Amino acid sequence: MSLEQVKLIELPKILDERGNLSFFENNRQIPFTIARTYWIYDVPGGEIRGGHAYKDMQEVIIALSGSFDVVLHDGGEEEKFTLNRSYYGLYVPKMIWRSMENFSTNSLAFIATDAQYDERQYIRDFEGFKQLAIG
Ligand code: TYD
Repeated sequence: MSLEQVKLIELPKILDERGNLSFFENNRQIPFTIARTYWIYDVPGGEIRGGHAYKDMQEVIIALSGSFDVVLHDGGEEEKFTLNRSYYGLYVPKMIWRSMENFSTNSLAFIATDAQYDERQYIRDFEGFKQLAIG
């Protein structure tokens, strides 16, 4: 998989004086069927989350509140995405190394994935990941 398959998806935005609204639906705004959602919150300053790749699992990451950086690596190149708007979803395909850092105070990272939690999906060793990714 390469960074070219990564996409920053602009989600629908219903602007309203009463407050704005955004959404996504299975296989429409995002390219898979959701099996699980989880969220990361109360991250102490300076902490790094993630630091792994999934063998066969894709995800969309949204900064529902605050901001953080998602650093992606395909085994050859690295790219950093700063998420700071709740109407952008970062699509990350399988076999992309990703970490999340630089969380602002009270930031809320929301992640939707196409598989239930399974530790066997994880590659947690970067050198091992690069070997697999480069093939
Ligand atoms: P992990 O994915 O390692 O966190 P990070 O975002 O830093 O990569 O998950 C941390 C712990 O939480 C680990 O023990 C597994 C557990 N966990 C679940 O039980 N279900 C989940 O959906 C997720 C994402 C993690």
